[in-house]
Amino acid sequence: MTQPAPIVRLQDVRLDRGGRTILRGLDLSVSPGQVVAVLGPSGSGKSTLLAALTGELDAAAGTVEVFGRPIPTRHRELLELRKGIGVLLQGNGLLTDLSAAENVGLPLRAHTRLPKPVIERLVDMKLHAVGLRAARDAYPRELSGGMARRVALARALALDPPLMIYDEPLTGLDPIASGVVMALVRRLNDTLGLTSIVVTHHVHETLPVADHALVIANGGIVFSGTPEALQATTDPLVRQFLDGQPDGPIGFDAAPRTEAA
Ligand SMILES: Nc1ncnc2c1ncn2[C@@H]1O[C@H](COP(=O)(O)OP(=O)(O)O)[C@@H](O)[C@H]1O
Ligand SMILES: [Mg+2]
Repeated sequence: MTQPAPIVRLQDVRLDRGGRTILRGLDLSVSPGQVVAVLGPSGSGKSTLLAALTGELDAAAGTVEVFGRPIPTRHRELLELRKGIGVLLQGNGLLTDLSAAENVGLPLRAHTRLPKPVIERLVDMKLHAVGLRAARDAYPRELSGGMARRVALARALALDPPLMIYDEPLTGLDPIASGVVMALVRRLNDTLGLTSIVVTHHVHETLPVADHALVIANGGIVFSGTPEALQATTDPLVRQFLDGQPDGPIGFDAAPRTEAA
């Protein structure tokens, strides 16, 4: 059986930041339609990995391919690639003086020349997809944390990107809102035919919707397999992270965040 071409492929990638190697020896292949959970303790390099996928950070070694092509170096091609990647960053990034609908419409106004009524229509469809059409005229301050996160999700979907990446989509959400957001990630992935990469330290909320799980710790990928295999692992390093134990092979404060000068 021939495998479909991967949406994301990393081969022996090294990622440096501030003159320091953060991750090394990264090998990863994400197939179309998958929801991949990237787990790991805070400071392990999860956001750094995402930055390599959007071309925000160049690999110090190895190859990073998205949609079957190496990350382009030319600015215009890089912008084109980024239109194909929907990014939900930590903190939503909603503009507070714009309504939900205006926030969702931002990428359409910035990157297309579609007439206003068409944009309005697309915005309504995206808000509908996240179950928030009734909130189109609400301002971010009028929304609950979970609703605001879903508006941000609708905005990330605005340009119909085939690849979605989520950086800590559950931060600040209560367990019910977390469940809603993760179920939505899975449902949108399947109904819209997307591929999704979810970076999080929320293991128990994320694994149930994931097809594949990676654990990043101590400068590399320390686990790659199914969520079931992850739950069953006896690897002490991975168990320490899963079970939230302070002592073990993952050094506490192993990678302190250096203050910006
Ligand atoms: N812009 C930067 N310059 C220098 N070091 C950075 C930068 N961003 C992150 N780091 C460092 O890289 C490591 C991994 O950070 P990050 O990828 O944000 O981890 P995570 O998302 O898993 O919490 C940390 O030690 C952090 O201090
Ligand atoms: Mg992070």
